Amino acid sequence: MNTLSPANALVDLKQAAEILESGGVCAFATETVYGLGADAGNADAVVKIYEIKGRPRFNPLIVHCATREMAESLVLFDDAARKLADAFWPGPLTLVLPLRRGAAIADLVSAGLDTLAVRMPAHELARQLIATVGRPLAAPSANPSGRLSPTKAEQVISDFDGSVPVLDGGVCAAGVESTIIACRDGATIQLRAGAITHDDIEQVLGFKVSRARQGDAIAAPGMLARHYAPRARLYLGVSHPEAGMAYLGFGEMPETTGPMRNLSPAGDLAEAARNLFAMLRELDASGVAEIGVAPIPETGLGEAINDRLTRAAARE
Ligand code: TXA
Ligand code: MG
Repeated sequence: MNTLSPANALVDLKQAAEILESGGVCAFATETVYGLGADAGNADAVVKIYEIKGRPRFNPLIVHCATREMAESLVLFDDAARKLADAFWPGPLTLVLPLRRGAAIADLVSAGLDTLAVRMPAHELARQLIATVGRPLAAPSANPSGRLSPTKAEQVISDFDGSVPVLDGGVCAAGVESTIIACRDGATIQLRAGAITHDDIEQVLGFKVSRARQGDAIAAPGMLARHYAPRARLYLGVSHPEAGMAYLGFGEMPETTGPMRNLSPAGDLAEAARNLFAMLRELDASGVAEIGVAPIPETGLGEAINDRLTRAAARE
């Protein structure tokens, strides 16, 4: 991999497509978080994603498609998957579906599983990039494995010291990763809470959708107890921060003495999701040892926000 200086880490659409076509890795914006992309059919390119991120090989990647046809060429949709794709694509929904035999996807992408995670991003530039390359792109979030996800191009540049080219698509609108739903053997299960709420999923399907729990055979291999981790220690459900503690508020702020941010002064969960990773990064960068986080309601997008916070606060 070339070492690019931060000044030339930004690339345009054409350059990004050329890098990907020639088996390189390039980060790009999606509506959720930045992804670290490679041609999903090129095993040598996909290996680079795992190496750059320091990602365990057992943790499979999401494949990003420009069109429904591209996705249909890779996986088998059942009725529920079809309904969900009709309702939420392009958008922050990932479907884990049976892999089609003979699909041109490197084995490492699905970590040897017989299912594949696919999604069609809502971000215009992301779909243009996939369409220009003409190939599905495997892309995990563009952060070193286990750390906070990036929602701005400059965070990707600093996380990898400018060594990864980035297609800048602005600030990510959703701010938390896609919701992951597995559809197989007639069952429909939520593997990861995300930018589309569980309520919205159930509303479209018209039936109850269960949530996979840690340790279930079906669970996403990447749903580790500790993840999205800042350097500082995180304390959740803190209404009154101790002196010197940094504070991440939500709604009305208590008195604080350390550095502080407010996820959403108005108590809006969509705004809070959008700000979550960036504000955690900012507080972490202030060098504090401890960050207190306000209680966040578990409703709607609160499920995804609390999921990320719980993993970020976990010790192991
Ligand atoms: O919003 C998103 O989904 C972002 C953007 C870049 O698209 N991507 C993202 O990727 O969050 P990543 O790699 O950080 O998370 C993917 C998750 C992991 O927990 C992984 O274990 C799970 O998806 N996954 C991928 N393929 C799977 C499969 N076949 N079965 C079960 N889980 C799978
Ligand atoms: Mg990730």
